[in-house]
Amino acid sequence: MYVCVCQAVTDRQIHEAAAGGARTLRDLRRDLGVTRDCGRCASCARDCLREAHDSQHHGSQGACPNRPLQ
Ligand code: FES
Repeated sequence: MYVCVCQAVTDRQIHEAAAGGARTLRDLRRDLGVTRDCGRCASCARDCLREAHDSQHHGSQGACPNRPLQ
């Protein structure tokens, strides 16, 4: 699923970034470009990053919240 439409960043890429050490939204912005344009993806990207960290610690792979982008 696309989390950031402007930069074509998917939830999978955010999970990979988290596995590679991304800890904050700022890390995602630097590494993947999320929030660089309209910024509407910030909340979903943050949730997705949190979920990625949770799945790393608990071993589950759930889906990111599906929030419509306007
Ligand atoms: S949707 Fe991410 S910057 Fe626009």
